[in-house]
Amino acid sequence: MNKKNILVVGIFVVDLSFKANKLPSPGETIIGENYTIGPGGKGSNQAVAISRAAGKVSLIARIGDDHFANIGLNLYQKENVNTEGLIIAKGENTGSAAISVDKNGMNSIIVVPGAALGLNQSMIDDNISLINNASIMLTGFEIPLEIASYCLMLAKSKNITTILNPAPYFNINHDTYKLVDYLTPNEHEASSLTKIRVQSIDDARVAGRKICELGVGTSIITMGEKGVLCTRNANDLRGIYIPSFNLKEKVIDTVGAGDVFNGTFATAISEQMELEDALNFANKAASLSVTRKGAALSAPLRNEINQL
Ligand code: RIB
Repeated sequence: MNKKNILVVGIFVVDLSFKANKLPSPGETIIGENYTIGPGGKGSNQAVAISRAAGKVSLIARIGDDHFANIGLNLYQKENVNTEGLIIAKGENTGSAAISVDKNGMNSIIVVPGAALGLNQSMIDDNISLINNASIMLTGFEIPLEIASYCLMLAKSKNITTILNPAPYFNINHDTYKLVDYLTPNEHEASSLTKIRVQSIDDARVAGRKICELGVGTSIITMGEKGVLCTRNANDLRGIYIPSFNLKEKVIDTVGAGDVFNGTFATAISEQMELEDALNFANKAASLSVTRKGAALSAPLRNEINQL
């Protein structure tokens, strides 16, 4: 198989993840069950998911030169992620995320990008060879927004397939969406973007068409246990509906499931899988990830996805 290069432009942070019976309410202190310290950051999680799914991946990200940065460096060595585009900022701190996970695996997250906020245009230009060698670029909104737009613009000018995961959601200039081949919001992000309350698959059908009207090639709205709705153009009334994949194992941690979906979807597209097959592949991978703890480390291996 001729594997095509996938470039991720995103952030790496260290996740401090606390498991408790429920998520704390404002002003409330609760006693938790356990905590873990592990690799996170949406872009970095996506890169690991790509590599574990047998994709060929490079990551452009800016980290500090502290102990947290070493967690990332060790991860990429072990997981076979190309780090030529990794920028180590002397004297700066790597970011971190405070994550709460409840007994059903639902989560809430505060992410502080740290050194990742310093990613700028000239650092992208310095890594132009990674862009030139890529056939797919995946990015999101944890990096500075103008850099996400710049990367999309560069990629599009070079005929590279673009995937934008608009997470966490920010209101950007809508012209940027014209540069996006695949937009992958979850239901909350799709609601914020379209002003349509996306609660059901039918809502996602309406929102998906509105997203395509913005100039996006294909809208893929991920809705957790409700499944995934893909809309191929502004006239695609039904779209492709992929129900969530039910495993026997219990859902224990949904952190990073969206990243696994995005990374494995990019891998499938890089192998020229048909769209519906690619959606099924990514859906299975995300379903496996929620039965495991952690963000990057919950990504499944290719043979585990294939066995489902
Ligand atoms: O998508 C999950 C990720 O979001 C976590 O790993 C956390 O670091 C935040 O970036």
